[in-house]
Amino acid sequence: MDIRKVIVIGAGQMGSGIAQTAAVTGLETVLHDVRLDIVERGIANIAKSLAKFVEKGKMTAEERDAALSRIRPSDNFENARDCDLAIEAVVENLAVKSTIFKSLDSVMPAHAILASNTSSLPITELAAFTGRPSQVIGMHFMNPVPIMKLVEIIRGLQTSDSTFEAIENLAKQMGKVPASCQDVPGFISNRVLQVMINEAIWCLYEGVATPESIDTIMKLGMNHPMGPLALADLIGLDTVLSILEVLQNGYGDPKYRPCPLLRQYVKAGWLGRKSGRGFYNYQ
Ligand code: NAI
Repeated sequence: MDIRKVIVIGAGQMGSGIAQTAAVTGLETVLHDVRLDIVERGIANIAKSLAKFVEKGKMTAEERDAALSRIRPSDNFENARDCDLAIEAVVENLAVKSTIFKSLDSVMPAHAILASNTSSLPITELAAFTGRPSQVIGMHFMNPVPIMKLVEIIRGLQTSDSTFEAIENLAKQMGKVPASCQDVPGFISNRVLQVMINEAIWCLYEGVATPESIDTIMKLGMNHPMGPLALADLIGLDTVLSILEVLQNGYGDPKYRPCPLLRQYVKAGWLGRKSGRGFYNYQ
């Protein structure tokens, strides 16, 4: 299947990164959110990110301008009517995502694929909200999307081979390395990662060490590019909490119980980098 035009739903940190990468790849790209001012902020972030690529000599100014000209803003699902693919990247909440999948299914052409960038929610369940479960799939990019190589591809129970192949080929075309897994809570990446992040938060909660010490030990001791608390701040603490709840509910195992300190930070609006405050202060 030839994917030429894509709509990205959600213009937050992941949606903007996905739209940027799609546009650089040469795809006609629609960036959609609930309000146009949110989309414009997303496009401004894309322009900033592309400017850095130009500064570093990884892209010419002409290539940057061409990529930006391929991105169209949207606050109306009607703009999905002529798209071959939707990649949904809104908040990690099944109720919100399922409403979007229903809307997309009702307007998109019969051949179109509906993909979700969810970190942990069941693809099979999202697919059940549509009349085309064989064309629903998980396409899980990593943060920051323009830099990170991996795309974790998740097959729902009914995902067809042709849908899988189309998304695998697209990931490669976007310069990424696809790796696939079955539809289990948290897939591979977050099933493994979030246990480490949660444990680091428990260490902080118990007063075992400061955030700086915890991150230095994990960074230099394990050769990780960043510590687990700094990584949690980058992901967004609301997203980390949602993923841990999906893991806890999905496996019924207390090892995934979110640390109370994480819940408290989220209630306070300390969501990490995106709100200016998390385990570290970014103001
Ligand atoms: P974010 O909070 O930066 O952005 C979410 C966006 O969704 C916001 O712009 C919001 O306005 C929009 N939105 C909410 N409801 C909407 C609706 N009904 N229609 C259209 N747009 C709507 O969140 P982020 O970090 O971009 O995460 C998005 C998704 O990507 C989540 O499912 C998350 O689990 C996943 N993800 C996040 C990663 C991360 O490191 N933050 C990494 C990989 C996946």
